[in-house]
Amino acid sequence: MTPQHIELVKNTVPVLRENGVALTSYFYKRMLGNNPDLKNVFNLDHQSTGRQPRALAAAVLAYAEHIENPSVLAKAVEHIATKHVSLDIQPDQYSIVGENLLHSISEVLNVPMESDLIAAWKEAYLQLADILINAEKAKYDGLAAQTGGWAGWREFEIAAIETTDAGKKITLKPTDAQAVPEGQTGQYISVKVQVPNHNIQQPQQFTFTDAQSSSEYQIEVKPEKDHTEYSVANILLDNYKVGDKVQVTAPLKG
Ligand code: HEM
Repeated sequence: MTPQHIELVKNTVPVLRENGVALTSYFYKRMLGNNPDLKNVFNLDHQSTGRQPRALAAAVLAYAEHIENPSVLAKAVEHIATKHVSLDIQPDQYSIVGENLLHSISEVLNVPMESDLIAAWKEAYLQLADILINAEKAKYDGLAAQTGGWAGWREFEIAAIETTDAGKKITLKPTDAQAVPEGQTGQYISVKVQVPNHNIQQPQQFTFTDAQSSSEYQIEVKPEKDHTEYSVANILLDNYKVGDKVQVTAPLKG
């Protein structure tokens, strides 16, 4: 990036941050409206609470602020890349997010898409996307190289359900009956379910409370109090039974 582009980006961070809610709500509405397939990727329960919508744009703004020294954000990049890999985010999806984010910035700052300012933001976004895509590629390769490992989604079957004080303990076995990596306490997997009465799937992370075996995983599922019809925990508790199938990503350390 040229020094002039860096200045342009940095000078607009405060205004965008001040208008953070407008930026993120416009961004998600535009992106999910134009790409309804992404409703299977983003957790719609989180969208309604506003938790996730703020996180993505906030991370882009934080990156822009430190654009001359992005290593400051190494920990954040590691955290985001891990989360993305647990959701099977792919490089081609970055251009969709980028295009919608740039349109949203143009809208909130009231500058045309063809302006120098948006060109500068585009460079900043591409730089960050590149860092994340590379970090994610390394993680996908690492997951696939493990004994029993895999990258992306794998089909599992509910092998047992046990009622506990807090909810249910659900045992998940891969339907290919092959080995899985031994999950460690504190690692998490994503579980993707079918939302009843909607043509939509939804993912959610579950953290292991115990060490796992090389043949199955056990997750503790607790009901969520303030939730929408898209809450994966509540869908699992209310609608899923032994023999039903879900999609699962390999264990990762958060
Ligand atoms: C430079 C681009 C991006 C940045 C800076 C970014 C940043 C973030 C951040 C900060 C989080 C929250 C992590 C947490 O839960 O603590 C997140 C989560 C997530 N991101 Fe990204 N992201 C980017 C691109 C993408 C792309 C291309 C996709 C796929 C279309 C994507 C999909 C997701 C999803 C599905 C979540 C989990 C949200 C949820 O449902 O709770 N992100 N991202």
